[in-house]
Amino acid sequence: MNPLPDEFLANVILNGGTAEGLAPTMPAFAAYLGDGQVRRVIRYIRTLADPPFVAAAAKPIVTPPNAPRQPIFFSHVVHAGSFHIACQYCHTEARRSEYAGLPSVERCMGCHKIIGATDNPEIRKVHDYWARQEPIPWIRIFKMPEFTYFPHKAHVRARVECQTCHGPIERMRVVGADVGPQLASDILHLVGLRPDPRPLTMGWCLDCHRRENTKPDRNAPLDCVACHH
Ligand code: HEC
Ligand code: HEC
Ligand code: HEC
Ligand code: HEC
Ligand code: HEC
Repeated sequence: MNPLPDEFLANVILNGGTAEGLAPTMPAFAAYLGDGQVRRVIRYIRTLADPPFVAAAAKPIVTPPNAPRQPIFFSHVVHAGSFHIACQYCHTEARRSEYAGLPSVERCMGCHKIIGATDNPEIRKVHDYWARQEPIPWIRIFKMPEFTYFPHKAHVRARVECQTCHGPIERMRVVGADVGPQLASDILHLVGLRPDPRPLTMGWCLDCHRRENTKPDRNAPLDCVACHH
């Protein structure tokens, strides 16, 4: 629990496990405990931590814009934040292909045949997809238009961190993003101002490539055909 911020623990204590996608076996205590009492409970729980709790390591939860309602409440805060499962354990294609890839139901089941199998309805859904042999219909968030080519491989191998482009995913209970062109930004350009390019636009790719190319041994492409085959 050390990487989890107080607000996560308070939410679970006040509103029950389901508030963070966890099991309903942890009931809501909002009817019995006030905010001050919950804060004292958390302070006490922290004293039991081994290794000891370091407040600076528990970063606040991030609520990104445009987070869709996914078919299963899958939390990166729990998997990547709290349990430190490596990004590429699940997004296995990132270092060798154009796509990062999403984990198969089989991969989820590798852990969830046992973990949370009996008491968490969100995990029951994973078992149901598995029993029906159906993929989980995750809603896509980061998406380039079809006429562009973005290879994960080149970026992962050049050690650009996932978070540089996707934000602090391990602190998001639901992933979302503020990306793509935006009218306000276009209007600022029309009147001659030059705001930073919006994330995942062509200007954003090029700005970083130009910056990278000032470093020795870097060769991030600027020619059209590299990104538009
Ligand atoms: C390497 C092991 C591992 C893998 C792989 C894994 N999980 Fe988990 N998952 C965990 C652990 C550990 C927990 C925390 C259980 C707890 O504290 O009750 C968890 C919790 C959950 C929960 C409840 C908390 C939350 O996130 O809302 C859901 C739902 C869940 N997993 C779904 C999935 C899905 C879907 C996949 C595949 C895409 C998956 N898991 C893959 C280990 C794993
Ligand atoms: C236990 C498996 C697991 C781990 C570990 C994991 N992810 Fe994910 N990731 C998923 C699943 C399942 C989805 C689809 C559901 C969603 O969007 O939350 C996803 C979605 C994403 C997306 C959005 C994809 C889209 O549709 O555009 C990004 C970006 C991402 N993960 C990055 C990361 C990063 C960065 C890390 C490490 C800090 C990480 N993930 C760790 C399973 C995992
Ligand atoms: C240089 C920026 C950048 C970096 C670094 C990066 N991504 Fe992405 N990611 C993108 C873009 C752009 C898209 C949309 C690509 C598309 O639609 O073709 C994307 C899409 C995704 C998707 C959904 C589609 C897919 O490829 O499966 C996942 C999941 C994902 N990224 C995970 C990761 C993980 C995990 C890492 C780190 C190992 C990472 N990304 C590193 C920019 C980046
Ligand atoms: C580093 C990658 C990269 C390079 C190099 C690049 N582009 Fe792009 N381009 C993109 C991406 C990503 C998009 C889609 C996002 C957007 O519309 O901003 C795009 C979009 C476009 C569009 C559509 C704009 C719109 O409004 O829909 C045109 C036209 C275009 N590029 C032409 C070019 C030309 C001409 C060059 C060479 C001078 C070039 N691009 C070089 C990445 C690149
Ligand atoms: C945060 C910095 C950063 C961003 C943002 C970024 N790139 Fe890159 N890109 C790099 C680096 C670093 C390399 C590798 C340079 C090298 O290997 O010397 C690279 C390489 C590439 C390559 C060359 C692949 C190869 O096989 O040689 C392509 C194509 C590319 N990027 C497309 C894109 C597109 C499209 C976008 C925007 C959607 C984008 N990049 C955004 C840093 C970035």
